[in-house]
Amino acid sequence: MKLFRTYETIDSTNKEAARLLASGRVFHGLTLLADQQTEGRGQYGRQWHAEPGNHLAMSIILLPENMSPADLPALSLKVNLAIVRALKTLFPLIHPEIKWPNDIYVNDKKLAGILIENNLTTGKVQHAIIGIGMNINETAFPSSIPNAISLRMITTSVHNITEIAKLIRQHVIDLIDQNSNEWKKEYDAVIFQLGKTTRFEDKENIFEATITGVDLDGKIILQKADEMKSYFAHEIKWVL
Ligand code: BTN
Repeated sequence: MKLFRTYETIDSTNKEAARLLASGRVFHGLTLLADQQTEGRGQYGRQWHAEPGNHLAMSIILLPENMSPADLPALSLKVNLAIVRALKTLFPLIHPEIKWPNDIYVNDKKLAGILIENNLTTGKVQHAIIGIGMNINETAFPSSIPNAISLRMITTSVHNITEIAKLIRQHVIDLIDQNSNEWKKEYDAVIFQLGKTTRFEDKENIFEATITGVDLDGKIILQKADEMKSYFAHEIKWVL
C-alpha cells in the first residue's frame, strides 16, 4: 500500500483529499503531497501562496474509528505538536514553537501553517483532512508575507521535502492514536509567547494580556488586567 500520492500540480491537496474521500478511494493515513498548488487554501478562508518545488504542501487523511466532535480541539493540538516533534528530530538545534492555534513559528517567524477540515455528519467525525504547508527551500518571500521563514533560511542548507513529509506524517499518525494526555506537557512547553504580554483583538477592542496556556478545548487562556479569560480561535486575533 502506498502511503503517499504525489502530484506535480494540483488545485489544493485538501480539495483533492475531499474528492478522494467522496469517491471512497482512501484509507486512514493516506497522504497527498504536491509540488505546486494552484488554489492552496489557508486559514480563515485565505489563499495560501507557495513557491512551486520549494514548499511542502501535504494533506493527511484520517478516518477515525471513534472520534466525536469534542475530540477535535485535541486533534488540532496534537497535529501542531507532531510537527514540532518532527522538526526537533530532524533539526535538534532549532526551536520550533506553536503559535496558537495552528501555526509553527521559528525565530519569531512563521515556518508552517495547518488547516484541518472535517466532516461531522451523524455527530461523529467521519474524516479529518490535515492540511500542512511548510516553507522548506525558499530563500526569500514576497513583501506581502514579511513574517515568513523557511527551513533553508534557518539552517542554510537545502532539504528533501519528501523525507520531511514522511516524518511529519509518521509523527501525526503516532500522536493521534495516543489516548492519555501525556503529550500535553510537551505541547505546553513549546507555546509561542507563553508567559509574555501580547496584544490581541476581540470583537470589541485591542487589549494586552499575558498568555498563560492553552486548554484541551483548544482555547487560549489569557491573564488580562483584572481577570483570567479563555478564548476560542474564532473569538480573538493576534496583533503582533
Ligand atoms: C494557514 O493559513 O496557515 C494554513 C495553511 C495550510 C496550507 C496547506 S498546503 C497543503 C494543504 N492544502 C491546502 O490547500 N492548504 C493546506
